[in-house]
Amino acid sequence: MEKLRLGLIGCGGMMELHAQSVHECTKELEITAVCDIIRERAEKVAAVLNNPYITTDYTDMLDYVDAVLVALPHDLHYECGVFFAHNKKHVLMEKPLANSEEECLRLIQVCEEEGVTLMCAYPVRYWPGVVKLKELVDSGEYGKVMQMSIWTEQLTNLGELHWSNTARIGGGQLFSHGCHYIDVMMWFLGEPVTGAHVGSRVGTPWLMREGSSMVTLKFASGVIGYHGATWGARGSKQKYSFQVHTEKGLLEYDHFSGVINLYQNFTEHRPDDSDSVQEKRELWRLGGQVTKATEFEISHFVDCVRNNKTPLTNGPSALQGLRVIWALYDAEKQGKMADLRGLGLKDELYEEERLIIE
Ligand SMILES: NC(=O)c1ccc[n+]([C@@H]2O[C@H](COP(=O)([O-])OP(=O)(O)OC[C@H]3O[C@@H](n4cnc5c(N)ncnc54)[C@H](O)[C@@H]3O)[C@@H](O)[C@H]2O)c1
Repeated sequence: MEKLRLGLIGCGGMMELHAQSVHECTKELEITAVCDIIRERAEKVAAVLNNPYITTDYTDMLDYVDAVLVALPHDLHYECGVFFAHNKKHVLMEKPLANSEEECLRLIQVCEEEGVTLMCAYPVRYWPGVVKLKELVDSGEYGKVMQMSIWTEQLTNLGELHWSNTARIGGGQLFSHGCHYIDVMMWFLGEPVTGAHVGSRVGTPWLMREGSSMVTLKFASGVIGYHGATWGARGSKQKYSFQVHTEKGLLEYDHFSGVINLYQNFTEHRPDDSDSVQEKRELWRLGGQVTKATEFEISHFVDCVRNNKTPLTNGPSALQGLRVIWALYDAEKQGKMADLRGLGLKDELYEEERLIIE
């Protein structure tokens, strides 16, 4: 089978990571074109690839590609995605899918009408440790899920200039980074019905919006979820931790050690019991190094294009996650709990959501 010809657009920090990951996918695809408005950046990414076409204008790339991976500033996602979809090219779009509800809906619709695959590049859903955790939870071996918590704690200070334009690169922590984990929680737990967010800039003055973010969600099943994150951690115990409390114990995927552990048989808590006893059992361990690991999402994208499958992180599911985030932000401003019911789209657009495209 011929390899998918993939073009890379926007050769900043994220694309440098993708360029390393594509080496894992050389059986399925070839990077045939690379673009950045700053030519040296495109050349730097191209230098680790097999002599692709280099350009500073992505509209030049059409003859070289079947699909594109877009890692542009947020405000350019929509116009770039629509351009390639109209030219029958498949689109793997970095998060966020686009900056507004209307842009997301139009992009989804154009891709649907042109018959091309649209996938949001959410690597976390495809990480082997997260996939394995989901498999363990779904197996039923550990009983029903009671609660899921995801922590991400890191120090991300790229300077005030980087973050100065919210529309370009940064919403707050929740929009720009938390979107991965809202997506993961919805994948594990289904539709959220209500929730709240609080965010703060304290300790992260280089950001225009919140650098620390806490979200609580309640899902239709009654299960509750929590996401606690900061870009201002000067130290961390949790780092990236995915924890699921079930009736039979706590399952934890610790991303930086690449291990899933089961904690169980906890002694019942008593006031004088300072040293509670529990058993810890390793259930799974990642072979190899922990990296950004975007090769798994890229492989999934190629499989979907080749075999006409719907991506797990397709347009409608990415939009639902963003709608949850926007509803949480709105409710936070109003000092209310957010109503998160009915924010999902079907794979096909609802009639009332179908837009007239001039
Ligand atoms: N999946 C993840 O974990 C993750 C992590 C970081 C960033 N991202 C996403 O990746 C995207 C890029 O983020 P980044 O941190 O790499 O930003 P960045 O600013 O480092 O890179 C953006 C690049 O786009 C180029 N560019 C700007 N306008 C262009 C145009 N019209 N044509 C061609 N190139 C153009 C810039 O020169 C720059 O090199 C964003 O959508 C961001 O949300 C995803």
